[in-house]
Amino acid sequence: MELTGKRIVVTGAFGTLGAAVVQAALAAGARVAAVDRAAAPAGGLGAAQLFGGVDLGDAAAAQRTLDAAAAALGGLDALVNVAGTFRWETLADGNLATWDLLYQVNLRTAAAASKAALAHLKQAGGGRIVNIGAAGALKAGAGMGAYAASKAGVAKLTEALAEELKDHGITVNAVLPSIIDTPPNRADMPNADFSRWVQPGQLADVILFLLSDRAAAITGALLPVTGRV
Ligand SMILES: NC(=O)c1ccc[n+]([C@@H]2O[C@H](COP(=O)([O-])OP(=O)(O)OC[C@H]3O[C@@H](n4cnc5c(N)ncnc54)[C@H](OP(=O)(O)O)[C@@H]3O)[C@@H](O)[C@H]2O)c1
Repeated sequence: MELTGKRIVVTGAFGTLGAAVVQAALAAGARVAAVDRAAAPAGGLGAAQLFGGVDLGDAAAAQRTLDAAAAALGGLDALVNVAGTFRWETLADGNLATWDLLYQVNLRTAAAASKAALAHLKQAGGGRIVNIGAAGALKAGAGMGAYAASKAGVAKLTEALAEELKDHGITVNAVLPSIIDTPPNRADMPNADFSRWVQPGQLADVILFLLSDRAAAITGALLPVTGRV
């Protein structure tokens, strides 16, 4: 997929999926700023500009970082909101703090980073936002309430923002993974058939398509990308 010269911010960029998106976007010719709460990897992340130690749930930090990233890239064409996390717990045995945590990490980060990106995307004359929802938010299973609620919030953010930005040439879409083939998932489910899980690179391919000029007519879409799960 051709992204030559596109200026892209990826959040959650030092995690498994985020790093795959960064590497794929760089390989497609994009200029990339990689933002994460975690410390920047010592060896860097290809040619990406690194912004570590940023809590995107903090609106002021999100705005400062998006402004700095846009300055470093010479503008901004796209934002990929990958920052997020997962918890499994039932309501009976769990803690209400988990609902707050997942709201903060999965939904507030995407809302804050998107809000901070808007002026830059409008200044560029159009652009792309891609969010990471979850297939598990379409029909929540046991123990998935807090996670699914937060990712359902990401889906509704995607739909609403797509409508708000329709006349600005900015598309807003979400991919909905099931189980991604990551080292933590392999450790948590050692007896699973990993070949059924979606690969980070497969998700990155779909995200790159949504970032590309060819996807200009798609907005407000919630796209399951689930491998064989
Ligand atoms: N893995 C799956 O099976 C799966 C399935 C469906 C959807 N997803 C979604 O896909 C995305 C990526 O998953 P992944 O497995 O690649 O996760 P990951 O490896 O844990 O990476 C997520 C990254 O986001 C960062 N982050 C968390 N909170 C942040 C904040 N407030 N501000 C800035 N960065 C923050 C994390 O930093 P810290 O390490 O400091 O927390 C981490 O580096 C997430 O949105 C996840 O919910 C994953």
